[in-house]
Formats: sequence, structure tokens, C-alpha cells
Amino acid sequence: MPDRTVALGHKIFLDPRLSADGKTSCSTCHIPGSAFSDANPVAIGHHGLAGTRNTPSLTATLASGRTTFFWDGRRDKLEDAVMDPFSNPVEMGLHDRTAVASKVTSLNDYSGWIASNEPAEQVDRKISAALASYLRGLPLAPTRFERFTRGDDTAIDEREKLGMQLFAGKGQCGACHKLSDARLTDDLFHRSGVSMDDIANALPSLTQGVLERNLSGTSLGDRVATHTNEAQLGHFMVSHKVADLETFATPSLREVRLTAPYMHDGSVRTLDDAVDREVYYRGLDTGYPIGLTAQERGDLKAFLGTL
Ligand code: HEC
Ligand code: HEC
Repeated sequence: MPDRTVALGHKIFLDPRLSADGKTSCSTCHIPGSAFSDANPVAIGHHGLAGTRNTPSLTATLASGRTTFFWDGRRDKLEDAVMDPFSNPVEMGLHDRTAVASKVTSLNDYSGWIASNEPAEQVDRKISAALASYLRGLPLAPTRFERFTRGDDTAIDEREKLGMQLFAGKGQCGACHKLSDARLTDDLFHRSGVSMDDIANALPSLTQGVLERNLSGTSLGDRVATHTNEAQLGHFMVSHKVADLETFATPSLREVRLTAPYMHDGSVRTLDDAVDREVYYRGLDTGYPIGLTAQERGDLKAFLGTL
């Protein structure tokens, strides 16, 4: 991609004028200095409106050639995923997707990229391509763990090495958070165990409603961001398969030390708590408790700090 396209993507990413209150940009929630995430449990969009899900980090967005985006996997192309926030009712709140193209066309400082008489569909394509190339091109400085795997034995210390062995072995974390992947994920959906109790009684009517409405893409995103209970149904919202109820995409663990709070609903405040929760729940899920001593948990947490 030419640098000009990336520069346009960068400019749009930072531009609060493309929102309903003129104050909310992509970077309001995806803060460049915080691994492109923020410190809120759930996203806070235009006019202070709260969504239902935790803002994921965007580093290494495409490092693994992935085909599912969002916690529930409702988009399969980055070019589509980057356009949804503009018209999401609790994110940037524009009336619809076409409003983005007309706003950008009307702003003088975009004239280097977009002519005032350019057809709206063409402008729309330019914006989506520019945002996608900007995110794809984000620089990926090697993490300490990556320096270690590339032969720098001093990049991680002895305790962190013990933690790495637990992560790959006894802790079974590597089964889903793949150490060979830049984002440390398998890009698959797994039962989460987070917040399940909240919706247990309502499941029959919730799932029935989802099947009847049969939404996808942008309209599904709008619905999920404004209905807390349905947001807990996870990949079921997309596949409509009972087996996918309450499953969520394995999140990236790259720079996980910077992305608190954790989990799809941001309900877990610290990394220590997230690790304790995962050790407990993953054992519960498979029926084989993962027995780790306090010392071993400490080692595991130390290792996560190198990712
Ligand atoms: C109000 C906060 C907020 C704003 C503003 C926002 N996002 Fe997000 N972003 C989120 C949340 C929350 C999610 C997860 C939503 C879900 O999974 O249902 C997300 C998910 C994403 C994803 C998918 C990431 C993944 O790993 O699956 C991409 C890509 C993305 N946003 C790009 C953007 C772009 C580009 C903009 C600006 C046009 C933007 N976001 C504006 C909060 C925000
Ligand atoms: C069966 C697959 C699977 C295994 C095994 C697994 N995880 Fe996870 N992990 C997930 C999924 C899915 C989530 C998101 C759950 C949610 O948000 O509801 C997650 C979330 C996390 C988070 C929070 C990340 C964030 O940004 O919100 C951390 C930290 C984490 N896991 C660490 C671990 C550790 C440590 C282990 C080993 C003890 C482990 N996981 C084992 C699938 C797995």
C-alpha cells in the first residue's frame, strides 16, 4: 500500500470530527500508547454512552492472516470491521455508513486525498482501505518473548522461563493462546465462563429472539453494542449454533500487561485476577483441574509480562 493511503488511514483514525458529538475518534477507545486499547471495562462512545464489550487491542491486527473480527467473529474482513464503529449507536454514532463519506468529502483538509465531486461509494472504499492499511501497517516491535524465541537468551529471566514452561505445559494455556502466533491466539471460539450466570434463566427467550431477528454485519454490531444480555451469547449471535452459545474469540495476549481490564465484558480488573480465573475455569471446563501452586501462578504471571 502506498504511504499516502496509510497516512489517510492514520488521519481518519485520529479524527474526532467523524462522530456524532465531534469528540470521539477511533483513538478515543483504541489509544495508541495503550496497545490500542483503553482502561474502561466497556467502551464509552459519543456523548458518554456505554457499550457492552471491552475494547480489544489492535496491535498485530492482521499478523496471523485472520478471517474473524470482533469478540463474536461477526466480520470476516478487516475492511468491513473498520467501518462499523462510525455508525454504531454507542461508539461514534453517525446516522449510517454513508454519513462518513459525506463528512470526509466536506472537510477541506481531506482534499489531498478526496475530490469534492468524488462519488460516495468510491470515497467509502478509500476510507475503508485506508483504515485497514493503517492498522495492517502498525509497526510490530519484537516483544521480549519474541526476542527470546529468536535466540536472545537474556531477553527473559529464569522465573519467566519457568512461567513459559507452565504456559505451554501443565497450565495448557498454549492450546488456545498459541505461542507460535504473534497475537497468541488460535482465532477460534471457546466457552468463556465469564458472566454466564447472569443470563442462564433468560437463555430460551434470548436465543429465540436472535434467531427471529436473524441479523448480520453492521446491524448485528449495533444490536450487540446496545443489548447487554445478547452480547453475552458470543459467537452464537453469528453462527446461530447452540454449540457456540457463550463462546468468544480467544483474545490476543500481545502486550496483555497493558490492556486491563480483561475479558469480553471487561469484568476482570487485573492481570493477576485474569490468570487466576483462567487457571480455574479452563480446568473446570475440561474436567481436569489445573493444579498450580502460588509460586507457579506467580511464574506464569511473570511470563505474561514478556508477551
Ligand atoms: C467507543 C469505543 C470505540 C470506538 C470509538 C472505536 N472502537 Fe473499535 N472496538 C471497540 C470495541 C468495544 C470493540 C469490540 C466490539 C465487539 O467485539 O463486539 C472494537 C473492535 C474493533 C476491531 C476488531 C478487533 C478485533 O480484534 O476483533 C477493529 C478492527 C476496530 N475496533 C477498529 C476501530 C476503528 C477503525 C475505529 C474508528 C473508525 C474504532 N474501532 C472505533 C471500541 C471502539
Ligand atoms: C480453551 C481455550 C483457552 C485456554 C486453554 C486458555 N484460554 Fe485464556 N482465554 C480464552 C478465551 C476464549 C478468552 C476470552 C474469554 C472471555 O472474554 O469471555 C481468554 C481470555 C484470557 C485472558 C484475558 C485477555 C484479555 O485481553 O481480556 C488472559 C490473560 C488469559 N486468557 C490467559 C490464559 C492463561 C494464563 C491460560 C492458561 C492457564 C489460558 N488463558 C488458557 C481461551 C483460552
